[in-house]
Amino acid sequence: MGVLVDVGVIGAGPGGYIAAIKAAQLGLSVACIDDWKNEAGGPAPGGACVNVGCIPSKALLESSAHFDLVKNGARAHGIKIKGAALDLGKMLSRKDEVVKKSNEGILFLFRKNGVRFYHGTASFAGYSQAGYELSISGETEQILTCRHVIIATGSAPRNLPGLAFDEERILSNTGALAMASVPKNLGIIGAGVIGLELGSVWHRLGSQVTLLESQPSLLGMADRQLAAEMQKCMQAQGLAIHTAVSIRQVQPSGSNVIVEYDDANGAPQKAIFDRLIVAIGRLPRTAGLKADKVNLKLDEHGFIVVDEECKTNLPRVWAIGDVVRGPMLAHKAEEEGIAVANRIAGKYGHVNYAIMPSVVYTQPEAAWAGKTEQELQAEGREFRAGVFPFMANGRARAMHATQGWVKMLADAHTDEILGAHMIGPMASELIAEVVLAMSFKASSEDIVQVCHAHPTLSEAVREAALGVSGRFLNF
Ligand code: FAD
Ligand code: NAI
Repeated sequence: MGVLVDVGVIGAGPGGYIAAIKAAQLGLSVACIDDWKNEAGGPAPGGACVNVGCIPSKALLESSAHFDLVKNGARAHGIKIKGAALDLGKMLSRKDEVVKKSNEGILFLFRKNGVRFYHGTASFAGYSQAGYELSISGETEQILTCRHVIIATGSAPRNLPGLAFDEERILSNTGALAMASVPKNLGIIGAGVIGLELGSVWHRLGSQVTLLESQPSLLGMADRQLAAEMQKCMQAQGLAIHTAVSIRQVQPSGSNVIVEYDDANGAPQKAIFDRLIVAIGRLPRTAGLKADKVNLKLDEHGFIVVDEECKTNLPRVWAIGDVVRGPMLAHKAEEEGIAVANRIAGKYGHVNYAIMPSVVYTQPEAAWAGKTEQELQAEGREFRAGVFPFMANGRARAMHATQGWVKMLADAHTDEILGAHMIGPMASELIAEVVLAMSFKASSEDIVQVCHAHPTLSEAVREAALGVSGRFLNF
């Protein structure tokens, strides 16, 4: 039977490692198995988020924003800088160091909370009276028996049919975060979150960036006004964005990649890039699990089928994060991990999917939560909107960051906040206030009644709330 634990967690991404820690804190015996390897072949817990996602992308977004400020933004503040130059090697190694510290931090937290960590790939080996048997392939094969299993195996990048990632010229997010030189012409297929964030990074570092998007607009899931504003801002910065295109062929040729596509008018076009990032969404990762051994149910796209409590079709087998339905976001995975750990421990677990914040870490940043205007219109719900521009916010003017606005949507009759959509400086931080308010079912008037420090960007949130009832003070 090998080692017996209350909970075996497969995957140590943000879903799995948080679930493991929470379950251990609730008094359960917990093992977490993860197969991510660092360059030396050692363990690198944290999943896609820590290794090739949220953390390294934000490290490069931060570094490239500093470079852009020094090269292009400082002058506006009365600072002349001569001879600023890029040390890409140093920038990348700083990013790698941030990742390494995060890996080490998770291993420390496992030790601190008494979570047993196994480095290897876990697969279902069978079922006995005592629980599910997981086989862990690593340096030595081991069997773990688990009363409960939490599957948090995450996702992998989707490639274009017939076009494998070589991470040299055809790059997934992994290669796109590790280019050893700045490409002159960088093509990106997909103007979603990765396309915009990593396109921004390499554009700031000197690439001519072209985004090719199949939908009529970028950020298809966002509020239309926000998506339009984002497109305007990105194009003003110099990123070329072609929407409503249809990719016909991608052909690596010598040191280049040739992309043939039909533009929005159906006219054939040809573009030559020295590197191409393909960022057209991600697919659930279940291949290593041997799900068929225990008849674990997957849907037609390969996602593990779960109910609203993350229960699979098998008793005491749960699944969370990118490998199940819902947005592929680290904080969504974490929320599900905490809720499932609570449920296993016999406590109450809850995830509020309706107000899960989304953030795009471009400049300006975009963030939103709740319903879009289009969703409310489709529901026939009567609402009022307040839109306050950062141009009218003192702190934004002082920062020289006046692009964008905050939009608040509230029920026309009850004034309950139904959604907030913002594009502007530090929108990633500002959205938290609205999410908190919405969690308490606040009205826009509730935000109006709260004192906000001056001068802060958060005053723009209050002004948008004032705008819901046409009572702007600063606009
Ligand atoms: P993952 O993070 O994918 O972790 C799964 C882990 O399980 C991996 O370590 C994998 O190796 C391991 N595993 C898989 N199968 C097995 C097995 N059989 N045995 C053992 N181990 C296994 N989200 C945000 O919220 N904010 C962001 O800013 C953000 N930025 C992103 C930037 C990029 C470039 C990318 C690609 C993604 C970004 N995301 C962001 C999305 C975020 O990374 C994912 O939503 C999140 O990582 C999902 O967490 P998870 O725990 O479900 O899975
Ligand atoms: P995405 O779903 O955000 O964007 C993919 C884009 O590619 C869409 O606009 C889609 O219309 C387009 N597309 C699909 N097929 C295409 C084709 N054949 N030709 C041209 N365009 C095509 O997915 P993305 O950017 O790959 O990111 C993956 C996941 O990672 C997302 O779900 C996202 O939530 C998460 N992520 C989150 C971040 C954040 O929270 N800041 C940052 C980066 C990624």
